[in-house]
Amino acid sequence: MSDNNDALVEEAMAGIAGAQSLAELDEVRVQYLGKKGKLKSLQAQLKSLSPEEKREFGKVLNGIKQSIQTALAEKKSQLEESENSGPDIEAIDVTLPGVRALPGHRHPLATTMEEVKSILIGLGFRYDDYPEVETEFYNFDALNTPDWHPARDMHDSFYTTKGNVLRTHTSAFQTRAMKEFGPPPLRAMTSGRCYRRDEIDASHFPIFHQLDVIAIDENISFADLKWVLYQLASALFGEDVQLRFRPSYFPFTTPSAEVDVMFNGKWLEILGAGMIRPEVLQAGGVDSEKWQGFAFGLGLDRMAMIRHGISDIRLMYENEEAFLRQF
Ligand code: PHE
Repeated sequence: MSDNNDALVEEAMAGIAGAQSLAELDEVRVQYLGKKGKLKSLQAQLKSLSPEEKREFGKVLNGIKQSIQTALAEKKSQLEESENSGPDIEAIDVTLPGVRALPGHRHPLATTMEEVKSILIGLGFRYDDYPEVETEFYNFDALNTPDWHPARDMHDSFYTTKGNVLRTHTSAFQTRAMKEFGPPPLRAMTSGRCYRRDEIDASHFPIFHQLDVIAIDENISFADLKWVLYQLASALFGEDVQLRFRPSYFPFTTPSAEVDVMFNGKWLEILGAGMIRPEVLQAGGVDSEKWQGFAFGLGLDRMAMIRHGISDIRLMYENEEAFLRQF
């Protein structure tokens, strides 16, 4: 009989220890100490015993009852404590820093493009997008670039299907705009990606960005071009900006100039410019006897690099977060 009793106590202890909640613990209590519990059925055996045996067994039963009650009470206060304190506080460390969503950053190319664009819109130029896959006609022929010109060499351009090329400069928009908008006056610009088969290094990348501008009207002169360029440069680099005009050659302008800006004690080339050649006006359907125009085109990558002190064009295209986060 005492073996059975030991087993009963062990069973009860395991039940108590395994209880996960106060409700579960109460079920265990009813199972052992309740009116129809296991201890009651043991007590029922008392009747059939002699007075001597009764006293002995009664003691044993009391011992069992007491140890179960003690274990129940202990477990009860344990469960009460953890149920009152809510979820496992060890699992939530409120002192840990949160996961912060990093704010987005505008790419220096995009901000530079938008700034140049908005200054020129302020000066009365319209903005439109033009095709990146361009015909050889608009990219070269219409711009007085005959087919023997080195710029047309396969090594400089990416050809797609026959007669089509990824535009090598945004100047390809010039005669398209003249045709599209009809008789002058016309003040127009575009910007976007250009493509050339360059070896990649710190200042060359096969994709780069340009912004091109044309103005066509009666009596437009080089002085008008200079005035617009000074307006633009002083808005970008400050009132006391210094520009330097160097004579140059482009097939589609004459006279032509390359323009440098004085920046941090150095002359840096920022754009090409000139008066639109009569051949180009004619290719755009504009009467070159009646109208004149100027054109200029600037490299946005270079402009962004100068303004932000970026030394390697490749950084502009790698989109590394650490680089972009600076802007
Ligand atoms: N398209 C020329 C270039 O890519 C720049 C330019 C534009 C020059 C307009 C004159 C007029 O270098």
